[in-house]
Amino acid sequence: MSTSLAAVRAVLARRADEPGALLPILHEVQDQLGCIPADAVPEIAGALNLSRAEVHGVITYYHHFRGEPAGRHVIQVCRAEACQALGAEALLTHAERRLVCRSHASSSDGRYTLEPVFCLGLCASSPAIVIDERLHARISPAAFDRLIGALENEDAEEAAR
Ligand code: FES
Repeated sequence: MSTSLAAVRAVLARRADEPGALLPILHEVQDQLGCIPADAVPEIAGALNLSRAEVHGVITYYHHFRGEPAGRHVIQVCRAEACQALGAEALLTHAERRLVCRSHASSSDGRYTLEPVFCLGLCASSPAIVIDERLHARISPAAFDRLIGALENEDAEEAAR
């Protein structure tokens, strides 16, 4: 049995009997493994007496869940109304170019995952983004480039140690 399947089974053993267990289980599996591996779907479905299609449907409905591990850095760009009104679409397009990464995907070098999201609670300071779980407000394309440049410098320093 793979390590990831063992982890999925351990989560199921603890949580399968909880009411409304599917979402908490999916969250915990992703927290532990970085994604919901394809072979976890039949395990989860079996434990919760659901069809594979039902489990797969929930995983694909919520963009939060991933079938593959994320890149080293996860960049989320808000696309909800307040941010859209202040240039979020252009910012997302800029991010795709700067990171060489499509939305809902990871860059080919595994460095970035780019995720459009809907409302980060910073509507008064739009457009807002999150980089590795840290919120940033009023982000212009130039500010985005500065943040990514700083991230790249940190990575380079870490690699040189
Ligand atoms: S609309 Fe973007 S943070 Fe609320």
